[in-house]
Amino acid sequence: MNSIKNRFLDLYKLLRYHDYLYHVLNIPIISDSEYDFLFKKFYSLKKKYVYLENIVKNYDSKFPKVNYCKFNNHFTPMLSLENTFDINGYIKFHNNIENNFNHGNIKFFCELKFDGVALSLLYRKGILIRALTRGDGYSGEDVTKNAYVINNIPINLIGDKIPELMEVRGEVCMLKKDFQNLNTLSKRNSQKIFLNTRNAAAGSLRQKNILITKKRNLFFYCYGCNIISNIKIYSTHSDQLNMLRNFGFSISQYILLTSNINKILNFYYLIQKVRNFLSLHIDGIVVKVDSLAVQNKIGYTNKFPKWAIAIKFVSHSAKTKLLSVDFQIGRTGIITPVANLTPILLSGAIIQKASLYNKNTIEKLNLCINDTVVVHRIGDVIPKIKSIVIYDRLHNAKNINFPKYCPSCRSLLYNNENNTIIQCLAGVNCIDQRKKQIEHFFSKHGLYAKGFSIGIITHLMFHRYIRTPLDCLKLQFEELLKLKYFGKKSAYNVIDTLKQCKKTTLSRFIYALGISEIGVENANLISKYFGSLDKVINCTLHELQQIKNIGNICSNNFFNFMRDKNNIKYIMQLIKQGRIIFINKNKVFIPHQETIFLDKTIVLTGKFTICSRKSIINIILNLGGNIINHITKKTSILIVGNNPGNKVVYASTLNIRMILEDELINIFSRYNIKIK
Ligand code: IVH
Repeated sequence: MNSIKNRFLDLYKLLRYHDYLYHVLNIPIISDSEYDFLFKKFYSLKKKYVYLENIVKNYDSKFPKVNYCKFNNHFTPMLSLENTFDINGYIKFHNNIENNFNHGNIKFFCELKFDGVALSLLYRKGILIRALTRGDGYSGEDVTKNAYVINNIPINLIGDKIPELMEVRGEVCMLKKDFQNLNTLSKRNSQKIFLNTRNAAAGSLRQKNILITKKRNLFFYCYGCNIISNIKIYSTHSDQLNMLRNFGFSISQYILLTSNINKILNFYYLIQKVRNFLSLHIDGIVVKVDSLAVQNKIGYTNKFPKWAIAIKFVSHSAKTKLLSVDFQIGRTGIITPVANLTPILLSGAIIQKASLYNKNTIEKLNLCINDTVVVHRIGDVIPKIKSIVIYDRLHNAKNINFPKYCPSCRSLLYNNENNTIIQCLAGVNCIDQRKKQIEHFFSKHGLYAKGFSIGIITHLMFHRYIRTPLDCLKLQFEELLKLKYFGKKSAYNVIDTLKQCKKTTLSRFIYALGISEIGVENANLISKYFGSLDKVINCTLHELQQIKNIGNICSNNFFNFMRDKNNIKYIMQLIKQGRIIFINKNKVFIPHQETIFLDKTIVLTGKFTICSRKSIINIILNLGGNIINHITKKTSILIVGNNPGNKVVYASTLNIRMILEDELINIFSRYNIKIK
């Protein structure tokens, strides 16, 4: 028991020490993920052994309250927020309020938890007269001059019913792009590199030279206010934010007002999914009771309001060990180093591999085998090594040696000047490259032979049944039956899927050829422009350059591929001997009229009720649009059905036009298209 107690107290002291370095001195010495790692340990102990709470209270009571800044008092204290790191914590908070204060339907207001520096702005008669940092919650540091140079902090409020005296609260943030620019510049000038956007915002706000603050492009997100002169002009938090918006403050657009707990949880999941795409860093969401009358009834502790809670996102970073590095060969021969890690659980998945991209990445990370590494998941999906923990480096750390020869065919590897490309140039003579080419040919965006997996491909290649995609298309049932591990059913499935995939589209076929840089989007554009295989094969460089949204590298690659006689011969063999049929070969529609979809890049999300997704896609293609799967900066329109995914949030961050089903029916009818 005592050892748990001691461990708990040690962790608490350590966390307080890092809090002090971070919040007061503004010189953190550990990274966010390391802090989260300690906090998670502390939090899980606290959850498991409830009695430990008192130990913390006893410890805290021994220290006198320290006032870091003596004179700049807040009118109303700047309280903190209660935190939970899991959904159960939120459900407990929600049910507690519903059960004890339910006077009908309690509405909750959800917003983002901005990861910046808290700021309190004092306005008299609508004019900014003072700006204070949070400090100890009761008095803060005066940063009025700095606040004056933050672009979106209004110096004079606009609109009417402006209160005599009002404290406006919010968070000063630095947008991710400004943070990156700042660090790039600092690096170039050998100046201090900031750990994260919060750090950079804090450092920039507290500058003596306000010209530096101005240059840093800080952004103020407003999340509330207190009117000190006692005119009451709103009765809910949401009305308060509307009022503040009308006064000229920036209020985040990611908000939700609801009394439905499922909608609150969905908001949390949605924001968690899209947070990496937002322009600023957030570390969770905040849920507040909307009615001020109910807020008052629920009340406060001396640290935080009992009517609000922050549901924080757990850090998606974790420490693990680099065991070894494999060198994988891609379909174009490029060698990619892949890290083998001691398996760890991260955002609900076990991670044991992470791409290391190229030699440069390894050098920048200063990575060695046996190092302790910090891993995170980009967009909550792709594992990436973020950094190494240099002070954990052991004597058994070993350099990572790049191969000189291809690990598959042993040919000498090509190395470009800046170490970003190491490539096997053996092409079809390299067995691993061929394997990847076959896999690509039959992949989801290619001819799509569902179930024709890399395992089956490897097995068939090993027994010399196949060397190329064409060999796969010519496979016979009886042949397969002779092979080890194939029964009637599995042989039939392989033959059937390979037969089905022969009916395809021109754009899938172009993608399947695996030409460097020709992905789904470009294959679509090329197939639409030329309309037939004949024209594709005989394309000129000039024609390719006419296609909107196709860059020079792509058109050159495509042109060179089609100029190679062997490639053309192979394409004809695929069509004739492989019996590939284009289902809408001659039906590529060239719209006669200007439509709103013409030459636009369009994405769909959600379920459609007016007709099938496929029909919508066909109509849009016929109206001259290009359909792609993922939202990019080039996307012009998002068509939104029921239960849309996070594409909606991503689209709104990029200001992409969204069209709902109702509007879509109207648009279609403008072009005389009736939906049955
Ligand atoms: S409300 C009395 N709303 O989080 C309510 N705070 O961990 C207190 N924060 O010091 C604040 N986003 O600086 C509120 N949407 C939001 C917020 C937010 C970030 C910060 C705030 C506070 C800290 C508490």
